[in-house]
Amino acid sequence: MDLDAQARAILANNDRGGYTVPTGGLYPYQWNWDSVFAAFGFAEHDIPRAWQELETLFKGQWPNGMVPHILFHKVDPSYFPGPDVWGGVGPVPSSGISQPPIAATFVRILLEADQKNGQAHARALFPKLMDWHRWFYNWRTENGAIVVTHPWETGRDNSPDWDGPFAAITPQGIDEYDRRDTHHVVDEERPRKYDYDRYLYLVKLGRECHWDEAKLREITPFRVADPTMTFTLLRANRDLRVMAQAFGEPTDEIDTWIAAQEAGAETLWNPEIGSYDCYDTRAGKFAGCISNASFLNWYAGVGGDRMLAHLQRIAQLVPYSVPSHDPASPNYEPKRYWRGPVWAMMNMLICIGLYEAGHVTEATRIRDETAQMIAENGFAEYFDPRDGSPAGGRSFTWTAAVWLGWASPNTGRNRWAASS
Ligand code: GLC
Repeated sequence: MDLDAQARAILANNDRGGYTVPTGGLYPYQWNWDSVFAAFGFAEHDIPRAWQELETLFKGQWPNGMVPHILFHKVDPSYFPGPDVWGGVGPVPSSGISQPPIAATFVRILLEADQKNGQAHARALFPKLMDWHRWFYNWRTENGAIVVTHPWETGRDNSPDWDGPFAAITPQGIDEYDRRDTHHVVDEERPRKYDYDRYLYLVKLGRECHWDEAKLREITPFRVADPTMTFTLLRANRDLRVMAQAFGEPTDEIDTWIAAQEAGAETLWNPEIGSYDCYDTRAGKFAGCISNASFLNWYAGVGGDRMLAHLQRIAQLVPYSVPSHDPASPNYEPKRYWRGPVWAMMNMLICIGLYEAGHVTEATRIRDETAQMIAENGFAEYFDPRDGSPAGGRSFTWTAAVWLGWASPNTGRNRWAASS
């Protein structure tokens, strides 16, 4: 089977009827940003199914506007922590936190691809996207930057970015638990127990206050301003604004958000390392980390070329960019999840930004490296930057999706790169 057919088969196999799981076993539910990437992949061959993916995701939207990071449509014991541990308070059993808000950007991409029915779908999603973005602005803004109350919210679970805030947490009162992730993937490629204890402690804090954001803001020890959230939301607001104009909707509220987040992005600039960085608002400290999220500034349309030198330096250190943590850092672990490996979908977001900023050579290089990793090693969850070898889960939805829409030689490949 050729690679495109394999990728389509992965989406089909991970389809649970209206939504896809990231991969069977390891992640048996609907994840927020995974689903948006899935929709992008489906859009190449089945645009109605692409819209359906997003519509199912928004069925889980909470009354306060938040769109959860996991929707537990059907309980599956192969994953922990499940719906009972989270105690989500939305219309579908769910987690209590969100994930990077990339949906508006991809709704716009789908809208442009679907001349026939795109308008109707995008118009129906538009007020829901507004409600979600408003939730971030109201509850998760510190000096304009977007803060998270759990590392899982950023989608970069065990990044060294959280080591500082985690060292200040003593997890208390968590029950014994049985991790299921390490039944599917070797320990060396997953977070450590130290991290899991803290993940579960933060879930407990949220559950105990019924995910009341006002309360949580008072009590949580973990409130970190993050480039993933800030940059993806800023970009999403720019795309939402384009749609608002096309639909004859007012743009003033969105303009307020954009101005706040542009200022917020600036607060994430750490002059000591010359990079965008995470900022721990509780301790008043930067993480001191250069991650792949640091390079999403072009995607957000900010920062000019101030990240270019780091991008080029890192390209000299590893054959496959963009590692999730700087290979020059002592905390770099090239196989351990978000502490080093390359993630294909992050590469696509980085390259969209690079291309739009006119860095076509860089965007094309990273796309070609991503395509090579996938072609040689399959549709893995993530890859080792030293040799492109596969790691984590296999038959992964988002890797298949970004192959179909961006990395494959047969497809929209040249949308954000030079033709080759
Ligand atoms: C992990 C990843 C996160 C992703 C989820 C499902 O938690 O860190 O980004 O959404 O798995 O694939």
